[in-house]
Amino acid sequence: MSLLFSPIDLHGITVRNRLWVAPMCQYSAEEGVPNTWHLVHLAQFASGGAGMVIAEATAVTAEGRISPEDTGIWNDAQRDAWRPIVDAIRARGAVPGIQLAHAGRKASTWSPFTGARGTVPASEGGWQTVAPSAVAYEGFDAPEALTAEQIDELVDAFAAAAVRAVDAGFEALEVHAAHGYLLHQFLSPLSNQRDDEYGGSLENRARLLLRIVEAVRAAAPDVALLVRFSATDAADGGWDVAQTATVAGWAAERGAEFFDISSGGLVAHQHITTGPGYQVPFAAEVRAAGVGPVGAVGEITTGAQAEQILAAGDADVVLAGREWLRDPHFGLRALGELGESDRTLERPLWPVQYARAAR
Ligand SMILES: Cc1cc2nc3c(=O)[nH]c(=O)nc-3n(C[C@H](O)[C@H](O)[C@H](O)COP(=O)(O)O)c2cc1C
Repeated sequence: MSLLFSPIDLHGITVRNRLWVAPMCQYSAEEGVPNTWHLVHLAQFASGGAGMVIAEATAVTAEGRISPEDTGIWNDAQRDAWRPIVDAIRARGAVPGIQLAHAGRKASTWSPFTGARGTVPASEGGWQTVAPSAVAYEGFDAPEALTAEQIDELVDAFAAAAVRAVDAGFEALEVHAAHGYLLHQFLSPLSNQRDDEYGGSLENRARLLLRIVEAVRAAAPDVALLVRFSATDAADGGWDVAQTATVAGWAAERGAEFFDISSGGLVAHQHITTGPGYQVPFAAEVRAAGVGPVGAVGEITTGAQAEQILAAGDADVVLAGREWLRDPHFGLRALGELGESDRTLERPLWPVQYARAAR
């Protein structure tokens, strides 16, 4: 049997295979409440053979949304709206996951559908952003530096969001510490210029993330806890892979059990060359440091490519984003690409309704 279609166990939760759906913002919610778009969008990947489907960056506070159209999980109405979506994913055999997020200085931005860039003004439904320091992302309005008290409130907000996510039925929670959003802003010296216990040394820059991991673990003891990192800022003086591996290790000591390794997003002047599997070496480096299991993501588009990444020992799981958008049945297709079929699996991957189309 292929590695890609072998199950993986996380915190007692069995994920049927190692081809997962990466979180993808849909900019389609009102007041943070997900709707039938999110249901169809996410459930189709479960029908299409994904092992885990991770719902988009979902804000733990209203101010933590990237755009006003982001999903949230800071109130009960949002939790209740997630329930049927979670049920639809699980009914199709995939593990439902959600990315818990705060956008920090990259919050209150225009959704890409508007064609506008930069910060949404208060008059158009935007809000004052917050961050570790009052240092703006290029082209965005300056954030306000968080006070120690506001930081405590944020830890509580992540924990409350975790409780609601579990109530909604999610079985995996991914803390978003990547792509230049709030927790990444704390990790990177380029955006964190604090001189208190949250800035300066690596221990201090990692403090908020680690407090959140601990709080989420305590609030949600029975689900899988994932952390997404950008392994590098790809900019001088920024965050790098070695720091990622160290902090991932510290997060593991506090109950995180999976590390989803991406890159970039902190500064506009980053230098990243994309191409097939371009972030796999970062996942491999973190894994080689003895931290894991890890996920690789970024331009992984075929079953053979995904299998090769696992066979090389570069990652334990492959996540994909855009390939699932191109082909929501990427999982079923990849199974065939590897010369396998439902006959080789313990449980069928093809929905019984589609069996006549299976190869
Ligand atoms: C439409 C879209 C929305 C995305 N939203 C998120 C998000 O909410 N959280 C996140 O961590 N990454 C997000 N990403 C990044 C993806 O999770 C993924 O890491 C990236 O697209 C690279 O993988 P791919 O080449 O398979 O698409 C998004 C990507 C796309 C295309």
